[in-house]
Amino acid sequence: MPSRKTFKVAVLVNLAKNAPSVASERVSVTHDALADLDSEKTGLSYVAALRARGHEAVLREGGLDLPAWLAEFKPDICLNTCEGFIGDSREAQVPALLEMIGNVRYTGPGPLAAAVTQDKPTTKQVLHYYGLPTPLFQVFATPHDPVRVDLRYPLFVKPKHEGTGMGVKADSIVRTAAQLRDRVAWVIDTYQQPALVESYIEGLDITCGLTGNGDDVHFFPITEVDFSGYPPEIGAVYGSLHKIEYDEAYRNKCPAPLDDYRPGLSDEIRTLTHQVFLRTGCRDYGRVDFRLDADYNPHILEINGLPGIAPRSDLTLMAEAEGLTHTDLVNMVLDAGLKRYGLI
Ligand SMILES: Nc1ncnc2c1ncn2[C@@H]1O[C@H](COP(=O)(O)OP(=O)(O)O)[C@@H](O)[C@H]1O
Ligand SMILES: [Mg+2]
Repeated sequence: MPSRKTFKVAVLVNLAKNAPSVASERVSVTHDALADLDSEKTGLSYVAALRARGHEAVLREGGLDLPAWLAEFKPDICLNTCEGFIGDSREAQVPALLEMIGNVRYTGPGPLAAAVTQDKPTTKQVLHYYGLPTPLFQVFATPHDPVRVDLRYPLFVKPKHEGTGMGVKADSIVRTAAQLRDRVAWVIDTYQQPALVESYIEGLDITCGLTGNGDDVHFFPITEVDFSGYPPEIGAVYGSLHKIEYDEAYRNKCPAPLDDYRPGLSDEIRTLTHQVFLRTGCRDYGRVDFRLDADYNPHILEINGLPGIAPRSDLTLMAEAEGLTHTDLVNMVLDAGLKRYGLI
């Protein structure tokens, strides 16, 4: 067997322990403020995965001293997992810094795709432009904005640019104008950002992930979130309570029995996932979240342009469902980047 090429890889992370104190004030009163940041253990799991394939890998915080450090370390490529600490487009910051340095290769979205996919309304505008199905929506800058006439209750209220279920719970479903105003006010006040209000899609939570680029992509088995392990009182919306506090109660169906629900549905979900990935300009990997309505029609909620690849994240569980390991997954992401740059 020919020996595999190995590379010098900088694993870039934003560790929760390095969050500047101002970041914890980002959403000062919520328990989920730093939910999207990684632990050192997670970062080291990426390093171990890359070393297992013979790469030279070093873990580094994606901070302002990156330019000097990269000039010294001279990696062939960076595995960028930086979620950013502060700001509307925080996932775009490290990619923008790397672009500014110039001649630095890195996995995952560039600054534009990172910013677009971090902002749910902007993503939805792109999806709408390309005729991809996403719930009807309106962004509320204040709780008193006039409601567009075609939005029908029940509605769903969430922060416009958070992730990891931040600001998402059973109370996000609103059935009256008074509930809508209250919830919008809560989101704006708590997360210091406009609220995204969408048609509420009553049905199953589905997520579909891929690695690769262009037409050369690999789809992981599609996951359906199984809410049966959670206390019923926390509701069947996949929010931060489920993702963090009740993490241990997580159950899924992977692969989801989509073609039993409706023949051809799994292909439809894969095609939509691929379209969303390409149209938003994502690279190397991505994960698209859907809700299915009562007739099993898919509605696109968002794309995670920098999806979690920690040992217990959705994408890892999906990879494991087809017999792959966490080491395989991390290296698939790296290989997608290496291939895109013509290095393998
Ligand atoms: N329009 C909607 N209708 C029904 N449920 C929704 C809607 N939007 C979000 N949800 C629920 O909230 C969860 C999180 O929403 P999502 O947009 O994926 O944000 P996050 O970035 O927090 O994952 C979804 O998995 C789903 O359970
Ligand atoms: Mg989601």
